[in-house]
Amino acid sequence: SDVITVGELAKRMGVKANDLIRELMSQGNMVTINHPLDYETAAILAAEFNYEVENVGFNEETILNVDKAAVGEDKPEDLEPRPPVVTIMGHVDHGKTSLLDAIRATNVIAGEAGGITQHIGAYDVELDGRKIAFLDTPGHEAFTAMRARGTSVTDIVILVVAADDGVMPQTREAINHAKAAGVPIIVAVNKIDKPGANPEKVKQELTEFELVPEDWGGDTIFVEVSAKEKTNIDGLLEMILLQAEVLDLKANAKKHGCGAIVEARLDKGRGPVATLLVQEGTLRIGDPLVSGAHYGRVRTMTNDRGEQVQEAGPSTPVEVTGLSGVPDAGDTFNALDDEKAAKEVAQHRAQKQREAELAKTSKVSLDQLYARL
Ligand code: GTP
Ligand code: MG
Repeated sequence: SDVITVGELAKRMGVKANDLIRELMSQGNMVTINHPLDYETAAILAAEFNYEVENVGFNEETILNVDKAAVGEDKPEDLEPRPPVVTIMGHVDHGKTSLLDAIRATNVIAGEAGGITQHIGAYDVELDGRKIAFLDTPGHEAFTAMRARGTSVTDIVILVVAADDGVMPQTREAINHAKAAGVPIIVAVNKIDKPGANPEKVKQELTEFELVPEDWGGDTIFVEVSAKEKTNIDGLLEMILLQAEVLDLKANAKKHGCGAIVEARLDKGRGPVATLLVQEGTLRIGDPLVSGAHYGRVRTMTNDRGEQVQEAGPSTPVEVTGLSGVPDAGDTFNALDDEKAAKEVAQHRAQKQREAELAKTSKVSLDQLYARL
């Protein structure tokens, strides 16, 4: 339902909040200035002051839709191929981080200024001019959090299984997550350099999960690698690009950027810093932006190589400053034409969060009251 706080209503009516509070008290309602009023209460209250309240409602879809450039229908001719977005998952110590490091190491662009690798939680990798975006999720939590929010950011999951250890609890978990999200799995059998490595056993174990290698008559891609020795890393990238071709991934780069927050934090000097994955459209410096209950303008944009960029197209991870607060991983973001609209959407969401909190608190205190009785 649409609500307004006592303070906001007073402001819009041009009366003192205390006058409204006094009136509400005389009706038996003990409220504070931040108390939310539903439409009916606000209408009755306003009528006391000879005001009429119009319920124009608030629908953020309407606001986001007003911005045709942001969420307009994609014309088929506007859809262009986009790079795949890949998440690496697997059991503890099976080599997720090492594999990502190996991938990055084989991809250091020659003569790159400084060659300093920034940790921004996501990486852009290139093979023969074809790009792949990797999300460096700190674990399954991020993936799960994103899915719980209904955000799907991953096109392909790389399931890392150590050849000397085989299928373990978190391997199973990862398979379940990927399957529930309907994301294809490529198996990277890692640590094949180790004396105890047994890739065939890994393949055998995974058939139980309907992950059957192609040479066994199935349709799952298996790649044997060593992250430590950097063996067959290009082979893995090739397979990712092959799988991406099958998926026929496309996006419209011509509209305003939108996508998901990969991670975010508060930086002492720079304020809120968010790594976001542009999924559709193009995000540019100066764009008004809303993410969760936060808004702002894109002040700076940095890629994973620490370079300042002016714009970021589909499947590009960038680190952005300029938001009013720190959004949660998995939150969506939208660039808009108008900062005022971005602020409105953010404030509406913040209001909804407060209401939810308030509802929780009053329920708790009621429960506590009953417990005491
Ligand atoms: P968590 O983030 O803790 O879940 O681990 P992870 O999956 O990121 O594994 P990580 O990359 O940290 O590797 C764990 C250990 O395995 C480290 O000691 C690595 O050096 C080692 N390791 C990773 N890949 C290989 C490999 O291909 N061969 C060998 N011999 N060791 C490897
Ligand atoms: Mg790790």
